[in-house]
Amino acid sequence: MLLNRGLIRVGLQWPPKPRNGVPTEPEFTIEVVRDPTGCNTDPVYGLNSAKPTVSVYRRPRIAANLKYINYEVGSFNAKRLAMINDRDPFTGKYMSMNIMSDAREPSLRTQAISASHDHLQVKDELTADTLDRIVNFESQIYAAQVDSHTGGSLVEQGGPDGLGPHNLEKQERGLGDNFGTPLFHSFAMWNPAPGETSGQREFRASVARGHDVFFKRPFYISDTTHINTVGMGNPMKRTCATCHNSNMVGTDLSAGWVDVGTTNLPYARVTLDNPWSEEKTELPLFKITCNADARPHTFLGRVIYTQDPGRALISGRCVDVGSIVMGQFRGLAARAPYFSNGSAATLRDLVDFYDRRFNIGYTTQEKEDLTNFLSVL
Ligand code: HEC
Repeated sequence: MLLNRGLIRVGLQWPPKPRNGVPTEPEFTIEVVRDPTGCNTDPVYGLNSAKPTVSVYRRPRIAANLKYINYEVGSFNAKRLAMINDRDPFTGKYMSMNIMSDAREPSLRTQAISASHDHLQVKDELTADTLDRIVNFESQIYAAQVDSHTGGSLVEQGGPDGLGPHNLEKQERGLGDNFGTPLFHSFAMWNPAPGETSGQREFRASVARGHDVFFKRPFYISDTTHINTVGMGNPMKRTCATCHNSNMVGTDLSAGWVDVGTTNLPYARVTLDNPWSEEKTELPLFKITCNADARPHTFLGRVIYTQDPGRALISGRCVDVGSIVMGQFRGLAARAPYFSNGSAATLRDLVDFYDRRFNIGYTTQEKEDLTNFLSVL
């Protein structure tokens, strides 16, 4: 799984032990339906072991551009979507919650502390000074695509001010294009490069069109928990940028855990030509049964089959089953496969997933343009 799909096993304690130490009663039970790796049914490491653990398999997330990922939000914003954000225990401030795919770490400091325990197994607590240095170091790393096979340099003078790591350093955090603040704007004005070939010119024009597909081509977003459940309608006629709304990295400005269907059945198996398809998958499958008095998953009810319960493994809430925090849109071309479970092998697969999931009806040209746009970020 690591070599073919870039997936890493994440073993999470069950039931979850919240950061404040006060155990909450989870709203559901988990059964292991399929366990190809044997971890979930293992007598020592599995769900029914002395230290009950759920193993899920996830892509590592990009550890750069963190000023757009990790920030304080006002308490109004935190409560806006009825998804109560965690506070950073060091500052008491509500945090954006976009660092991990299950939002379990409110800040880079808490992430570093957890990683020192879990990954490094250090015996002593990290000192305040070490933590400061880790966080400062992480906070000044910027990463983005700098070159495209067909499109040429992405960081040339006069290029679009969304591209390249230097622009990430320069720009401000905020909402993306469709809300009024420029995001990856000015693709349409991408200047001809000196000695530009016709292939290059065509590719750049395609990227500019792909930008418009992403920001302006509407489709019906439907049955998506934490998007279609927050009073904006179901379905709602919007764009990719409605969910991926934040400047420069395309995550969600409000804590963005959303069940778009990447891990819950039935949508998780929609991906055609996919080595993870239901018959062949190497991923585990869980059956979630929610308590009768819990708020059910809005679209799947109280019995849910999932490859990864996502946020629900932390919150213990039925409504969160399959909700995953959006990953950032930088350096995508170099980071296949996509989605937290690596279920889209290529950027084109990812575009095809959305086309099927939301019945968008993209033309072949639109798919190609959108794929090209995603490939230069
Ligand atoms: C209803 C909200 C929603 C809409 C609309 C949406 N996305 Fe997503 N997107 C998500 C969520 C949630 C994830 C994280 C899922 C996961 O990783 O399993 C995601 C992940 C991604 C990623 C993955 C990044 C990575 O590193 O794996 C890309 C790229 C992406 N979306 C592109 C698009 C495009 C293109 C569109 C428009 C066709 C779109 N999204 C529409 C919610 C949405």
